[in-house]
Amino acid sequence: MTTAIIGNTPFRKCETLSQLYESQFFIKEEFHNPSMSAKDRPAFFMIREAIAKGQIKPGGTFVEASSGNTGLGIATFAKQLGYQSQIFVSKSCSSEKIDALRMAGARVEICENSNGLHDFYSTQFRAQSYAATHPNSYFTNQYYNPQNIRSHYKTTGPELWKQTAGQITHFIAGIGTGGTISGVGRYLKEQNPNITIWGVEPKGSILSEFLTTGAIPEQHATYDKIEGIGRSFIPGAFDRDVVDHIFQVDIEEAEVAARQYRQLTGSLVGYSSAALLASLQRHKEQMGLTKEQHIVLFFPDHGSRYVSKIYSDLFDRLKTSLNIS
Ligand SMILES: Cc1ncc(COP(=O)(O)O)c(C=O)c1O
Repeated sequence: MTTAIIGNTPFRKCETLSQLYESQFFIKEEFHNPSMSAKDRPAFFMIREAIAKGQIKPGGTFVEASSGNTGLGIATFAKQLGYQSQIFVSKSCSSEKIDALRMAGARVEICENSNGLHDFYSTQFRAQSYAATHPNSYFTNQYYNPQNIRSHYKTTGPELWKQTAGQITHFIAGIGTGGTISGVGRYLKEQNPNITIWGVEPKGSILSEFLTTGAIPEQHATYDKIEGIGRSFIPGAFDRDVVDHIFQVDIEEAEVAARQYRQLTGSLVGYSSAALLASLQRHKEQMGLTKEQHIVLFFPDHGSRYVSKIYSDLFDRLKTSLNIS
């Protein structure tokens, strides 16, 4: 079954970025996971634990609030294991991800925002409420489920340490639930405390201020920008002790960076991966890049999930060739 091939994703040097920034750049390509994103890792760990602990019976429904990718992992594995899935996404979710969720067998509800459990209109509130009112359903709750961090601590971190032969000096990842950066960050710092862990989030998100000052800034109710990353609340799966700095970028900068990267390399990158590229452009001085550094960028998914949003020129061409208005 496909769960056997979660993780152990390819890792490669990026010559383009290495030349551009005069440093050693590497990319961890998570779109090689079974449902094409890093979120297969926490999805599988959360499902496996719930089943093992008897928190759901065969035929039951796994419920999740997701920007799409975790939901897709949940839907895929639930179906394979004889369960159903109910996924709550926010209205900013790309049409490609919603289509993929439905094709994976998920029932999908589109919500106003993903502002956390306190907001009646959020994906998280709706998911929790659904699980509370439907027998034999289980809310995997990636924002607070320890299996989220654990999946990256147990798999992604060790993979990176091995793939870089211990040479990694910097790890850069977008922050959504915080599961990736917290799990990978903790594992890598245990191997070598000098490894720098950098997060990236969109402007308006509150985690960088929280990291710097310890204060929880006033919440931005309308906040929901780059798909997969950025928050208006502090997720339980965010471990600030292992993150050295969080850089912020504009959504427009990310889109421009994605298109430039495509021109330079021919590759399509996902929204949050584009945010990492934008963070290099905007913050390169502050990052103090040098030739000796081994910098790993974490690409959680692929640009094919966002063609209608980021690469609209491709989308228009596709529609014309298919004769769709
Ligand atoms: C495309 C994408 N990038 C980044 C993230 C953030 O990862 P994490 O939730 O582990 O912080 C997510 C999370 O859903 C995502 O889907």
